[in-house]
This record gives sequence, C-alpha cells and structure tokens, in this order.
Amino acid sequence: MSERAPRKLWGGRFREPLDPDILEYTSSFAVDRRLLRWDLAASIAHAKMLGTNGIIPAAEAQLIVDGLRRIAADAAAGRLEAAGPYEDVHSFIEATLYERIGAAAGRLHTARSRNDQVATAFRLCVKHETAALVGLIADLLVPMIDRAGGTVDIILPGFTHLQHAQPVRLAHHLLAYAAMLERDADRLMSAYRRADVLPLGSGALAGVSFPVDRDQVAGALGFSRISANSIDATGDRDFAVEAIFGVALLMTHLSRWAEEIVLWATDEFGFVRLTDPVSTGSSIMPQKQNPDPAELIRARSGRAVGNLGAMLVILKGLPAGYHRDLQEDKGLLFESIDVGASSLRAMRRLLEGIEFVEPRMAAAAARGLLTATEVADYLVRKGVPFREAHELAGRVVTEALDRGVQLWDLPLDVYRSISPLFEHDVLQAVTLEEAVEAKRTPGGTGRNSVDIQLESARNSIAAIRAWVREAESAMSRVESLLGA
Ligand code: ARG
Repeated sequence: MSERAPRKLWGGRFREPLDPDILEYTSSFAVDRRLLRWDLAASIAHAKMLGTNGIIPAAEAQLIVDGLRRIAADAAAGRLEAAGPYEDVHSFIEATLYERIGAAAGRLHTARSRNDQVATAFRLCVKHETAALVGLIADLLVPMIDRAGGTVDIILPGFTHLQHAQPVRLAHHLLAYAAMLERDADRLMSAYRRADVLPLGSGALAGVSFPVDRDQVAGALGFSRISANSIDATGDRDFAVEAIFGVALLMTHLSRWAEEIVLWATDEFGFVRLTDPVSTGSSIMPQKQNPDPAELIRARSGRAVGNLGAMLVILKGLPAGYHRDLQEDKGLLFESIDVGASSLRAMRRLLEGIEFVEPRMAAAAARGLLTATEVADYLVRKGVPFREAHELAGRVVTEALDRGVQLWDLPLDVYRSISPLFEHDVLQAVTLEEAVEAKRTPGGTGRNSVDIQLESARNSIAAIRAWVREAESAMSRVESLLGA
C-alpha cells in the first residue's frame, strides 16, 4: 500500500479533509471487510453488465473485471491486506482498483451508489452465512438422532414445572430438542430466501438513469428476484433482522438444552456424566468437574438475543431510505452468526462427550408416582368421567404417599376400597413400561410413535442437507465470478 492518503469516493465539494478521529469513528472497514469477496463478485457482475449493455466501453469493463479478480486472488492468497484508513470495504476496493488499473477504475461506479452496492454485498453474505449455519444445524442433528435412536429403551421422568410428571423415553426427550432445531433450520432457510433479492440498480434511492439490465446482474449473482422498489431496496434491512432473529431463537433453544445439561450433570440429578474432554476443573477444588461448555452456550445466547434488540432499535427510528445508521447491521449479524456457528459446534462435541446414566434415570422414574394419570385413565376406560376418575386417582395417590410405596406396590384392596372398578390388572397398568407404551398417539412416547419420530427426523435431516447443497452450489457459482 502506498504512503499517500488513499483515494476517496467523494471530496469534490469539500475544502478540508475529514478529521482522522471522525474517520476512525465512522469507518466500518474493520467489520465490513468480511464482505470483501461478496462486494468484489457484485462489482464484477455490475461491470460486466455495464460493458455488455454499452453503458461503459467493453474494453474498460474487461480491465475492471480483471483488476477486481486480481484483487480477489491477492486477498485470498494473503498478498493484499484488507486494512488501512478507509471508510469501508467499498472504498478500499475502489481505491485499490485505481492503483492497479488507473483511470478505468473510475467507470465502475457508473449507475451505482454505495447504498445499493452495500445492500447487494450484504445480501450475498447473509445468504452464504445462513446456508452455512443451516449446514451446522444438520451436523448437530445427525449425532442427536443417532443418540436418540440408541436410547429408546431408557425411561426417565418427564418434567413439567421441573417436577416429576410422567415417564417418557429418553429418545423422545432428545427428539424434542431435535424438533426445535429442525424449525430453527427452517427459519434460517426462510431468512436466506428473504435475503435472496437483488437491490443493485436501485442507485442511492431513486433508481438509475442508465439502461441497466438488472435481471442480468441478478442471474450472474444467483439472486432469485430483483427488488421492486428502489427506496425500500436501499433502506430495508428486514432480511438482516430475520437472520439475526433466526440465530437468537436457535441460541435460545441451545441455551435451554445447555441449562438442562447443567442440571442433569449435578449430583442431585446425576442423569448425565460429562467426560473429561468436555468438562473443566477448578483452580482450588481438586474434586470439581464443571460443565463450562454448556454454561457458555447458555451465556452466549445473551449476545444473540441482545443483537436482535439492537438491530430492531437501530431500524425503528429511521424514515424510509438509506441512513448511515444501517452500517451497524453488519457487526450485529456477524457476531450472531459466529456465536450460532461456534455454539452449534460446541454443542455437537458436548453431546458426543456426554454419558447418559441410565440407573439414575431409572431410579428417578421409580419415584414420584409418575403414573398416577394411568390410574385415572384406567377408570375412564371403565366408564368413569375423567374429572371423577381424577378425584379417585388422587385418593389412590394419597394412600400411596401415606404408605410410602409406589403405585405398583400399593395393595389391590386399597385400590378396591376407593373404587370397586379396580381389578388386578391396574397394578400392571401403573408400571412405567405400560404407561409409556400406552402413549401410542402420533408424537407420543410409545415405542412405535418414537420410531416414527426418529424416521421423520432422519428424513428432515436429508432434506436439510439437500437444501444446503443447493444453496452452497448457488453461492459457489457467485464465487466463481471471482475467477480461478
Ligand atoms: N459503509 C456503509 C454501510 O455499511 C455504506 C456506505 C454508504 N454510505 C453513505 N454515506 N451513503 O452502510
């Protein structure tokens, strides 16, 4: 990089240079240099379109395209550092292009504003990042479903209000988190589709006065459609909000699960044991084994949720059109994406490093009269209205509590003293296995229902993977604009 001050994108109407502190304060380069390859790809598509439509001379369009490709190659090879006193990545690229190809560089910004330029690069980036995150969700779902498949026979207490509620299969419990993650993948796919609109050709806000071919640019950049309104296209950041929201909810789900792992790893629960590679020690208490990765997933969800609030607040005071406030979108989105990606990877390792402690789950399921609902259901099957059956079952529960026994150990004559409808088979109906198997409804905890859920989760993963492959191949076609 030369010693002289870099060429700026504006300056004609200014008599004095920008204060360096103000440049530093207003610059987004340290953050938006992550857009480098997307901005280069969009600029190449724009320059080609200008050339083929005779808006700039074809030879100069070619010079520009070649120059931008060399910048891409040098940056990728580490020969060009994206740093320096620039307002943003767009200024850096144009100044660097000037240094390399001279005056022809000045034609690149024909029929374009930084406002439609930044929206275009950012949308490409959001498509790429959301597709990658969806892939990481699938990477976590695979071992989740594998482990769920191996835990169909483990019965543990299901909880509501964090109190023992009804017995469930561990597989069923794990599948609940898988269902949340499948929806998270779907939400991020929808954020991808929202971002999949080309703003370029909108100019600063009003459109451009050259015969640009927006569809040609959209095709080259793999956008499905072009924006319908130039004021909206340059001022809209809904797509960023939706991506940030997708990550916030994903992180909220991971945080719920992480919190549960922290609880389950306590001596009080003891449902899981954390192996050495996924737990940490204490500097003072030699006996400790702490669930730090789960705690940090729980904590970092705070940033993902905070970024959503920050992005919405940035937008809420802005009248239509571009405002410099919008520049703050990128840091928030990038942080959210990075928190989501690293947390998905950590959760995957954590899951691999967890041992389920079946005897503790079995012991817990054998406490707490988990099958009291079966007592009521038993009477309902004999014709008693549920509310009345619930009342009678409550009395059975009281008897069991008084005697300190489980429902399957309560003598039959105690049952019969409460209702003569109870027969010997009630002692079978209140066992954990029978209670679980009685839940044969779709989505329930019965074996067949769980098998169907496993099958459907495997199909979802295959569908998610297919979607990611398609999105990634669309994005790699964009990157192919950058040359070999
Ligand atoms: N760096 C700006 C952003 O990220 C893009 C430049 C638009 N600036 C402007 N003054 N119109 O939003």
